[in-house]
Amino acid sequence: MIEDCALAVGTRYGGCHAGLFGDAACFSFYPVKHLTCGEGGMFATRHEDVAVAVNKLRAFGVDRKHEERSVPGMYDVPQLGLNYRMSEIQAALGRSQLTRIDEILLRRSENFTALKQGLSLLPNIRVLDSTCRKAINSHYSLTLVLENELKSYRNEVIGQLKEAGIGTSIYYPQPTPRMTYYRNKYGYDSDRYPTAIENSDHSIALPVGPHIEPDDIQYILDQTSEILVEVNQ
Ligand SMILES: Cc1ncc(COP(=O)(O)O)c(C=O)c1O
Repeated sequence: MIEDCALAVGTRYGGCHAGLFGDAACFSFYPVKHLTCGEGGMFATRHEDVAVAVNKLRAFGVDRKHEERSVPGMYDVPQLGLNYRMSEIQAALGRSQLTRIDEILLRRSENFTALKQGLSLLPNIRVLDSTCRKAINSHYSLTLVLENELKSYRNEVIGQLKEAGIGTSIYYPQPTPRMTYYRNKYGYDSDRYPTAIENSDHSIALPVGPHIEPDDIQYILDQTSEILVEVNQ
């Protein structure tokens, strides 16, 4: 099992960090993620043979690392490989980000909690949050699900938030079975995934990143409340 940990740095279940449950895990360091290297990511595995195989695939399929070459520059290519190496500059950026991870996760958590508390007073919305005591959320964003009469106003609310200078997103705009490629390939009936559909069609993700200051949170709250009350009338 390969865990998709693209958004899971800092996420734990029962004290165990995401990525440590399966055979392997992929983390994303794309700019909007909890940690960034500008691009790229991290592959983790508990299996030594998988680590060796992935290391070879990552660098052209060469059979020897630099330190393993008796004659510098000498190696063979016994298998087809790729070039998925991370550059030194990206790695340096990632390492400096790593020293700030606790602060980054704390800021995300504070922003999430402040937004959630403010939004909880509004009717016809629901905030997605973990209800499991064993789980630790790493707060990538705050997902607001519009309910009842508000359901049909999702895109209008997004448009008004954009006009107010508030960037939003949708996680995710289509449940996988409804995406053209997967629908054509596997033909799953997307009606079988009502919760995913509900989140795709009626949710809005608000930002909680560490760059967002308490004043910004208040502004997001004021604007979101005003817009939701207006469309609710
Ligand atoms: C859940 C999930 N998986 C995978 C990815 C892909 O990550 P990357 O762009 O680093 O390959 C993303 C990116 O947003 C994601 O959100």
